[in-house]
Amino acid sequence: MKLHLDALIELGFHGLPWTRLKEEEAKIPAFLEDFKARDQGFLTLPHAKPMLLLAKQMAEKKRGYKDVVILGIGGSALGVSCLRDALKGPYWNLMSEAQRSGLPRVFVLDNLDTVADVEKLIDLEKTLFVVITKSGTTPETMAQYFYFKEKVSKEHFVFITDPEQGELRRIGEEMDISILDIPQNVGGRFSVLSSVGLFPAALLGIDLEALLKGAEDMAKLFEMKEMELNLPFQFASIQYLLNWERGIPMTVLMPYSSRLHTFAHWYAQLLAESIGKEGRGLTPISALGVTDQHSQLQLYNEGPSDKLFCFLDLEHEESPQIPEVSATSLRYLSGLRFHELLRVEKRGTAQSLSEYKKPNISVSIPELNAYELGQLFMFFECSIAFLGEYYRINAFDQPGVELSKKLTRQLLSR
Ligand code: PA5
Repeated sequence: MKLHLDALIELGFHGLPWTRLKEEEAKIPAFLEDFKARDQGFLTLPHAKPMLLLAKQMAEKKRGYKDVVILGIGGSALGVSCLRDALKGPYWNLMSEAQRSGLPRVFVLDNLDTVADVEKLIDLEKTLFVVITKSGTTPETMAQYFYFKEKVSKEHFVFITDPEQGELRRIGEEMDISILDIPQNVGGRFSVLSSVGLFPAALLGIDLEALLKGAEDMAKLFEMKEMELNLPFQFASIQYLLNWERGIPMTVLMPYSSRLHTFAHWYAQLLAESIGKEGRGLTPISALGVTDQHSQLQLYNEGPSDKLFCFLDLEHEESPQIPEVSATSLRYLSGLRFHELLRVEKRGTAQSLSEYKKPNISVSIPELNAYELGQLFMFFECSIAFLGEYYRINAFDQPGVELSKKLTRQLLSR
C-alpha cells in the first residue's frame, strides 16, 4: 500500500507542505504511549492464532449451507459486507451457485425493514444465521434473532459475542449454541479482523492468513517513529492539521472501485463514531469513482473548501476491452480497457480538484486481494488511533450511540 501526497504538498498554502507535516513527527512517541494506555486489542488481532483456528474450525463444521445471513448492525455488520464486496464482488449474491463455486451467498441484515425481503430469498432449511453483537443486547440484532429462532433449529445458528457478558452469551450458553468470542478489548467498529470478520470470511473461502498478514505488516508501520514510514500517522496528521489550521472538517473517501464502495461506508462509521465527540470531530463522506463524478464532483470542485479528498486506487486490474469506435468525437475510447478509462478519469478528477485548490491525496494498492485489504483495514484503524490522541478524546467508546439505545429502551418499556 502506498500513500501519495504529491498533490497535497504541491498545493502549498491550500494543502500542506512536507516540512509542516514533518514537524508533527515529534508527537509519535507520546501518542503511541497514550494509545497503549488505552488497552485496545485491534492491533494484536493479526497475532491471535487461536481465534483464527477457531473461526476456521467453525467454518468447517458449518459448511454446506447455501446461504449465510448475518444478523448484526454497525461495527458488527459493515466489516462483513466489506469483505464480501471487496473480495467476492458487489454482485456475489446474484451469481449462480456454480459461479460461486458452491460457496454461500452472504446477506447482511443491518436494518430492521429488510427481514421479510431476505426471508423471501432464502430457503430457511439451508440457511446459517450468524448473530453478531459485541454487547449481546443490541435491540435490532436481538429482535432479528428472536424472529428467526422460531423458524429454524439451534444448529442453524452461530453466535459471535463478548466472551463473558451480554444476553446473547447467556442464551447461547443456556441453549448450547455454537459461540465464537470477540476479545473484550476489541470494540465493534475495530472488530473486522476478529472472529466477526474471520468466520464469515472463512465461509466465503477467503484467505484468512493473507488478510491477517497484510494487517500485521501495516501494524508494524504504526509503531514507527519516522514520519516517512508511519503511513497511518501521516494520514491522521493531514486530517488533523487541515481541520485545525485550515478549518476543513470533512474527509471524503472515494475509491475508484465498486468493490471498495462498502469499504468507504465501513470507514465512514469508523471515523464518525470514533472521533465525533465532545463537540469535535471529522465528518466522513463516502463516495465512489467514477460514479460520483456525475453526482458530487460539481460540489467538490466549486463548492466550499471544507473537504479533504482521499482516493483509493487499484494499480492493476483486469477488465474487458472497448471495441473500435467509429464516431470521431469518441474515437479516443477505442481499444481502452474499462479499468484504464477509470484510472484516467481518476487522474482527471484529482487534477481538477488541485486546480480548484482542494486538498487531495491517494492511497493505492497493487491489486485487490486479501493481503491488501488487510493492509487497508489496519491502515485506517491505526490512523483513527492517532486521531483520537490528536483530538484528546477516547476514540474507542460511543456514548452518543449508547444514549440513543437507552432512550429507545425507555420508550419501549413504557
Ligand atoms: O462500533 C461500535 O461499537 C458500534 O457501531 C456497534 O458495533 C453497534 O452499535 C452494534 O453494537 P453491538 O455489536 O454491541 O451489537
